[in-house]
Amino acid sequence: MSFEKTKWVWQDGKMLPFDEAKIHSTAFGLHYGTGIFEGIRCYNGNIFRLKEHMDRFYASAETYQLKIDYSPEALNEAICETVRRNNFQNCYIRPTAYSDAGNLGIRSICPTGLNILTWEWASDFAAKQANGMRVTISPYRKFHSSMIPTTAKATGNYLNSILAVREAAARGFDEAILLDANGNLAEGAVENIFLIKNGKVLTNDEHSSILMGITRDSAIQIARHLGYEVEIRALKLHELFSADEVFLTGTAIEITPVREVDGKVIGNGARGPITEQIQKTFFDIVNGRKPEFQHWLHPVEQKAAASAA
Ligand SMILES: Cc1ncc(COP(=O)(O)O)c(C=O)c1O
Repeated sequence: MSFEKTKWVWQDGKMLPFDEAKIHSTAFGLHYGTGIFEGIRCYNGNIFRLKEHMDRFYASAETYQLKIDYSPEALNEAICETVRRNNFQNCYIRPTAYSDAGNLGIRSICPTGLNILTWEWASDFAAKQANGMRVTISPYRKFHSSMIPTTAKATGNYLNSILAVREAAARGFDEAILLDANGNLAEGAVENIFLIKNGKVLTNDEHSSILMGITRDSAIQIARHLGYEVEIRALKLHELFSADEVFLTGTAIEITPVREVDGKVIGNGARGPITEQIQKTFFDIVNGRKPEFQHWLHPVEQKAAASAA
């Protein structure tokens, strides 16, 4: 991942050269972690599920009383304009809203700063998407949703994920799986989890303290579209070890199989057939090869094309 080709950053209504996009040292969000964000991908000039990502963005902002003075249409257009201005076809998009400078008293409600950063982040998970990841159960548990709302995508939440991924990497694993406060499966550090058992697709929901991923929702809809039964419920740790197939979903890793959990081989130790089918359909959709899912793609050129018509 590199910001080398990012020339422009949208900040508070202005398109700024990359080096001028800065945040003040007194920003409340810097001190206390009060920021929310989205991670979105653009494939071949089409933004994947922009509406769902921005619905979550506004919902996360509401959780932390971050007032956003832009309509969803205006922010969507700012996102498209940032992608166009940087001349990207394939990129990662990171809109962030945070408590800006004002007052550092903990009760303060500060003005909201907005930032849209885009960068070329080619999926560098191709090998793992084909061969699977080696994951570990993290000694860090996912914080319970009664402690910090887990359905809001808040910057501060990622302290938990960062501790987990660093600890997993230090022991040589690709990713950490976190249990919830009850000892059930929660999710990967930055991904949701799916198990496949006897042809049925299993995943959990917000009752297991997860972020409700957009890729998770896509995988559920794809699995049902392919004719698989999807069961949504709390998942036990032993079900992970005895699953026929396991995969993780997230905007960054897309759909990536798990081949081993703490040394225990899952299935035949390779990408399983149902995972492969769901993964292939996902890539067909994001690359515009499935007309029935075309509504998941938002062309960045839409406005220009509409006004030219
Ligand atoms: C904790 C957590 N869970 C799940 C996900 C997957 O969400 P999405 O599919 O919307 O990217 C993410 C993505 O950033 C995450 O950080």
